[in-house]
Amino acid sequence: MPQFQQLQEETLPQSGPSAMDFLTNFLAALWSSIAAMFAGFKPAPVVSVNNKKYTVTRQLGEGGFSFVYLVRAADNQHYALKRIRIQLPEQEERLKNEIAAHKAIKSPHVVQLVDAEIVRDRPNGAIKEGLLLLPFYGNGTVQDMIDTTPAGQFMPLKTILHLAVGVCKGLEAFHSHNPPLAFRDLKPANVLVDENDSSVLMDLGSVAPARVRIASRREAIALQDLCAETATAPFRAPELFDPPSDGTVDEKSDIWALGCTMYAMAFRNSPFDGSMTAAVGGKVTFPSGPNPYGEHFKALLQWIIVADPVGRPDVLAVRQRIEALLAGIDFEV
Ligand SMILES: Nc1ncnc2c1ncn2[C@@H]1O[C@H](COP(=O)(O)OP(=O)(O)O)[C@@H](O)[C@H]1O
Ligand SMILES: [Mg+2]
Repeated sequence: MPQFQQLQEETLPQSGPSAMDFLTNFLAALWSSIAAMFAGFKPAPVVSVNNKKYTVTRQLGEGGFSFVYLVRAADNQHYALKRIRIQLPEQEERLKNEIAAHKAIKSPHVVQLVDAEIVRDRPNGAIKEGLLLLPFYGNGTVQDMIDTTPAGQFMPLKTILHLAVGVCKGLEAFHSHNPPLAFRDLKPANVLVDENDSSVLMDLGSVAPARVRIASRREAIALQDLCAETATAPFRAPELFDPPSDGTVDEKSDIWALGCTMYAMAFRNSPFDGSMTAAVGGKVTFPSGPNPYGEHFKALLQWIIVADPVGRPDVLAVRQRIEALLAGIDFEV
């Protein structure tokens, strides 16, 4: 008889369960219930940023290469901790960019960095991850507000306009910087809501010098490629989808995204599907169903979302028109 079969036979139970089997099963069950009890008491993970320790409470969000956690400091203060994994040189660039942008912009409508650490691998000194400590906003993002609006209901016009004023003020801080900066990835998921229900811009990884002179097809394609990675498609301006081979792009791309963000607050999604054709066509259509917002709001969006950046208003003009609408006054532009 081959050895394999012999072994099998030896391990087969010869009779019914013995006292020994019962004891083994009992001990196994006891062990697994003790293990389960201890799993419940597993200590919460601790992350340190520049040698200060923070206890992770729960996950708040997740991106392609980042996780955002709610953490608690030793003094019980809550923060949001953004952990960015670095595997490619361009991710390292983006991380440094994000930290630099935070340091350059001080505004109540742009999230402020509390602390940041670039973590390096010990043996070779290569950057492994970035840790960004931010104030925690318990009201979440404008995208969360959209997602929690029940089907068939609409966000009130006053709420949309008030949030849009905050976004404008945040954008003003970038556009009036010397040199001017563009936010480049404005969308409802990158706008936090503070305790006064005002907007606070966050996720500064795509921020870039606003005014870019393009002198060749090669430079146009380089900008197109960069924006394909850094600017979310349904909110991406036509000139970032298809940059001119001889011309400039500027901060007006944020105005396009602002219009699309306001449209999404009203109708849940951007008016564009994320294709180049749709953006370059630049035609804003409104849902055929009930629209509680009226003609003034439609006219406002059609004035902001214009395919040619030269024809788009600047952020100050947008804010003034929104504030006028909010005050119940409409004026012709
Ligand atoms: N300071 C914060 N307070 C509350 N929630 C936050 C905060 N920062 C980020 N989040 C949550 O985490 C998500 C991802 O954060 P974000 O910085 O946009 O990362 P990514 O670069 O991966 O898009 C956000 O959409 C939001 O839901
Ligand atoms: Mg984001």
